[in-house]
Amino acid sequence: MSPTVLISGGAGFIGTKLANKLAGTHRLVLLDNLHPQVHASGAWPTNSPENAKRVLGDVTESAIWLEAVEKYRPEVIVHLAAETGTGQSLTQSNRHASVNVSGTAQLLDALSTTGHRPEALLLASSRAVYGEGLWESADGSRYYARARGEAQLVAERWEPFGPDGEEGTAVAHDARFVEPRPTNVYAATKLAQENLLSAWCTAMNVPLTILRLQNVYGAGQALENSYTGVLTFFATQAIAGKPIDVYEGGGIVRDFVHVDDVVQAFVSSIEKTPADGFRLLDIGSGAAGTLLDYATQLAVVAGSPAPIVTAKFRLGDVRAAYADIQSARDEIGYNPAVSFTEGVTGLLDWARVGSV
Ligand SMILES: NC(=O)c1ccc[n+]([C@@H]2O[C@H](COP(=O)([O-])OP(=O)(O)OC[C@H]3O[C@@H](n4cnc5c(N)ncnc54)[C@H](O)[C@@H]3O)[C@@H](O)[C@H]2O)c1
Repeated sequence: MSPTVLISGGAGFIGTKLANKLAGTHRLVLLDNLHPQVHASGAWPTNSPENAKRVLGDVTESAIWLEAVEKYRPEVIVHLAAETGTGQSLTQSNRHASVNVSGTAQLLDALSTTGHRPEALLLASSRAVYGEGLWESADGSRYYARARGEAQLVAERWEPFGPDGEEGTAVAHDARFVEPRPTNVYAATKLAQENLLSAWCTAMNVPLTILRLQNVYGAGQALENSYTGVLTFFATQAIAGKPIDVYEGGGIVRDFVHVDDVVQAFVSSIEKTPADGFRLLDIGSGAAGTLLDYATQLAVVAGSPAPIVTAKFRLGDVRAAYADIQSARDEIGYNPAVSFTEGVTGLLDWARVGSV
């Protein structure tokens, strides 16, 4: 009999794509509360697999996890449900902490209460855990950049500083040696999820995979949710025929990874259990660029006006983020395949339909 996969956040952007990918080979249970910020219609996505069982409820409620775990005894659990607003998390800390941290603890308690031990547990973590990350000075010395406060950003001093006030170049995120140092509440809760799951899974001998995702994009990301998905926001502006507004002087560095590649990373991780019971990987596209580069490419594909660089900023954003994906290549055969032009074309086609 095919294994059962329980996907929390299974009605979301990544969850729906993952569910469709697994639908032919696995039995599926999708747990989701259809969060109004993500699902404005209040309904399950029309492209959610029809043969999947649906559990409607909130991850902070123990009864929901108990129902899903006891009834379906999933061999694999993929934990995606989360509050995901980076900027929003600074003003709604309790909501982010409650859903992301307490919601994860409720999953663990449901497993303990039922005595059920999945064969694999997977978490979608985030590159956000690195905060401003590791930087390198011109002389080759490395330092963890200081968080950028409001005063620094208002003064348009975009680059983060080192301990002695130096500026440098960002080093790629690599979980093997770059320490997590969250600079917003969302990031802190994602790191807490990682820590809760690793502590429990080690003690209970449940294999755990943590994927730290860079910026995921593609068709299907909620257009109406203004708190996530910068490329979706750019696409909406381009489709309206407006010049894209690019913050922080255009120089923010990001690594946009297509959702199909992210789904492939989850599928490969499900197929290959970590050898020593634990796996922590950085998942990106293998490339990095400035937001101005990406906005310009998107505007060309969309046929919209050239982007406008502004001095606007969002507190809690980091200046540079991109991943070294070599560990993922070695460990799970990860090989991102969707080019930016291809991915953005699909995003624009989908957003055009979604925005009429
Ligand atoms: N999209 C990205 O760029 C990105 C990057 C890094 C990490 N991640 C992580 O990937 C995961 C999935 O992200 P996504 O982009 O698919 O987001 P999404 O918002 O599209 O999906 C999240 C899903 O979780 C559900 N949800 C939210 N709160 C819930 C609750 N209290 N109880 C039950 N369900 C709840 C929502 O209704 C939604 O369907 C998240 O954990 C996020 O932190 C995403």
